Amino acid sequence: MEAKAYTNLKHNNLLEMIDYRSSAVEVKKDGSKVPIAYMVLKLVKEGDLQNWIAWGRFEAKICRFYFKQMLKTLHFIHSKGFAHRDLKPHNILVDSEYNLIIADFGLSCSIKGPSQDESGYLKTGLGTKNYMAPEIHRIFDLKTKEKMEKEH
Ligand SMILES: Nc1ncnc2c1ncn2[C@@H]1O[C@H](COP(=O)(O)OP(=O)(O)O)[C@@H](O)[C@H]1O
Ligand SMILES: [Mg+2]
Repeated sequence: MEAKAYTNLKHNNLLEMIDYRSSAVEVKKDGSKVPIAYMVLKLVKEGDLQNWIAWGRFEAKICRFYFKQMLKTLHFIHSKGFAHRDLKPHNILVDSEYNLIIADFGLSCSIKGPSQDESGYLKTGLGTKNYMAPEIHRIFDLKTKEKMEKEH
């Protein structure tokens, strides 16, 4: 799904995938061959937003600039039928012109399709706990409660 997302999502504020092979062969030093899949992503030179935040707070003006970029890019992702599902400062990179680049589509999914109920809301409890939407948290809490009830 990660490679599918990168293939379908071309935008100035999204990480660019340079190459992808689902079935390639790696030749080891001893000559043996191992089947591999690989993805080549563009290097974004100024690190991730978490690093920048660690240096201190951004001024309100800069926050507004970055929030606007983030929301516009998220809107684009959703308009193309994808959900990122793990948006957090670690997964937002900063390019050499100090624009945001959304990365890490490892948990992304298709919004539409047979596994979705057309409501527009996702129902799988995954992501990074501190950044999950309230409705996804509720799924997590429910699952934990069920597990605890089964164990006791
Ligand atoms: N294309 C890139 N350019 C620069 N740094 C990157 C790039 N991709 C990832 N990183 C850095 O590596 C970290 C982990 O990469 P990520 O794709 O988020 O993998 P994971 O699934 O392990 O979270 C990111 O938080 C970021 O700091
Ligand atoms: Mg990540």
